[in-house]
Amino acid sequence: MKLSIKASQPLKQQKSCLIIGVYEDGELTPSGKELDKNTQGFIRKLLQQGVMQGKVGQILPLFLPPHSACEQILLAGCGKINTLTPAGFRKIMVSAVRALNAASAKQASCFLAELPVGDKSLAWKVKQMAECAWEALYRFDLFKSEKEAPLALNEFVIHLPDAKHLKACEQALAQGQAVADGITLTKNLANLPSNICTPAFLAEQARELGKRYASLNVKVLEEKEMRKLGMGAILAVSQGSAQEAKLICLEYKGGKQKAAPVALVGKGITFDTGGNSLKSPENMVGMKYDMCGAATVLGTIKAAAELKLPVNIVGIIAAVENMPGGTAYKPEDILTSMSGQTIEVITTDAEGRLVLSDALTYCERYQPEVVIDIATLTGAVVIALGVHATGLMSNDDALAHDLLQAGLESNDRAWQLPLWDEYQEQIKSPFADMANSGGRSAGSITAGCFLSRFAKKFRWAHLDVAGTAAMMSGTSERMATGRPVAMLAQYLINRTR
Ligand code: BES
Ligand code: MN
Ligand code: ZN
Repeated sequence: MKLSIKASQPLKQQKSCLIIGVYEDGELTPSGKELDKNTQGFIRKLLQQGVMQGKVGQILPLFLPPHSACEQILLAGCGKINTLTPAGFRKIMVSAVRALNAASAKQASCFLAELPVGDKSLAWKVKQMAECAWEALYRFDLFKSEKEAPLALNEFVIHLPDAKHLKACEQALAQGQAVADGITLTKNLANLPSNICTPAFLAEQARELGKRYASLNVKVLEEKEMRKLGMGAILAVSQGSAQEAKLICLEYKGGKQKAAPVALVGKGITFDTGGNSLKSPENMVGMKYDMCGAATVLGTIKAAAELKLPVNIVGIIAAVENMPGGTAYKPEDILTSMSGQTIEVITTDAEGRLVLSDALTYCERYQPEVVIDIATLTGAVVIALGVHATGLMSNDDALAHDLLQAGLESNDRAWQLPLWDEYQEQIKSPFADMANSGGRSAGSITAGCFLSRFAKKFRWAHLDVAGTAAMMSGTSERMATGRPVAMLAQYLINRTR
C-alpha cells in the first residue's frame, strides 16, 4: 500500500473511496458538509434515519448512487464534536481502514485529518494516521494453511485541510511510515514461536538488518566470548538450554563520529519456561513473547535507520532460552556477573534481570549518553499498570521525563515507578551481594532495583513491557502489539530536534 498526502482537493474530484467523518447528534465535519451538499442532502438524510449514531469507531461503508463522482463512501463516527482524544482518533482511523479493506476498496481518500484532536498539530495527526493504517492492516498468517485474502487497498491518500503545513506533514508521514515498519518488524519477530525464533535466529535477523542499512553494523558474541568477558549471569540462564546464547550488538551510526550513543538493551528470552523454578502450564503460554524487548530494539533501530536519524545508537540484545533440566542453573546457585558483583539465585524464573545485568555492564564500553533497557520483566507490572502503560523506572529524572513525554506524544505511554533506597533492602542475600528476587511485594520495583546496580555508570531507564508488548493470555487473543517502538522512536526523533 502506498501512503501519501495531498493538500485540499475538493471532494467531487475524487475517484476513490472517501473516508468522511460524522459526529454524534447529526453534526457534520467540514468534508461531511461538502459531501452532503454534493449529494443533495443524502448524508443528513441517512443520519436522520438513524442508520448510524456517529459514535467513535462506528463505521458505515456505503456505495453511492452512480451519478456521484466518487465510487464509494465510508462514514466514520467521530463522537461528540470537539471531544476527540488521541486514543479516540486512533480508534477511528483503525476501524475505518479495517472496514475499507474488508470492503475491498483499492484506493482511498481520507478526510479525517481535519478532525480536531485536543491541541494536536496536523503533523501529529498525519503521523498517527500512517501508523494506524498499518496497524489496521497487520496480519500474521505465516503458519495458517488458509491465508487471509491479499490486501485490497493499494493507495491511501491523506487529505490535508490546507497547504499551510505541507512540509511538516511530509516529514510526519515519513516518520509514521518508518515507525510503522519498525513496529511491523517487532510484531513479526515477537509472534514467531520459540522453535523458530531461537537466539541464533534473532542474531541472523539482526545481521540481515545490518546488511540492509550501510549505517548499521552488527556483531554477535558467542558463549565462548561471553565466558572470556565473565558474563556469568547470562551463561547461567543459558546453561540448561540446547540453544547457544547470543549477545547481539548493533551499532547504528547516524550522528557525529564521536557523539556518545543512545544504548538500547533488549531482553531476548526466546522462551521462558521458568527454568527449574518451573512455571505452571497456564503461566507458560505467552512466554514466546519474552523476547519482545529484543524485538523492540530491532524495530526501533530499523525505524531510525530508515529515517536516517542523526543520532548514534547501539542495540544490545541478550538472546537466551530459559529451560529446566539437569544442566540448568538452580535456586541458591551463586553467580558472578561481568560486573564482579555476585548474585544468589532465589528463583530461576527471575532470569530476565540476570541476562540484562551482564548486557548493561557490557554497555559501559560504548560510553553511552543514556541507556534504556526494554524487558518483559515482571508479572507484577501487569498487576500494577495492566496492559495500558509501560512501567518506567530510572536513575535520571530528565531521562524519565523525556521518555514519558515521548510516550504521550506517540500515544505509547509509560508510567513511572519509584526506585527508592528502601526497596533495595528486599533484594539482600545472606550469601551473595544480592538476591535475584525481592518477593511478591513491589515486584516490578525490586526488579528495577536489581538492574540499577548494574547501571551506576550511566544515565539509565528501564521499561517493563510485560503488560504492553503483547497480549499474552487467552488462547485466541494472543498477539504482539509492537510497543514500545513508537515511544522509543519518538524519543530518538525528539533528540534530533
Ligand atoms: N518473563 C517473566 C515476566 C512475565 C510474566 C512477562 C507474565 C509477561 C507476563 C519473567 O521472567 C518472570 O518470570 N518474572 C517473575 C519474577 C519473579 C519470579 C521474581 C514474575 O514476574 O513472576
Ligand atoms: Mn521468568
Ligand atoms: Zn522472563
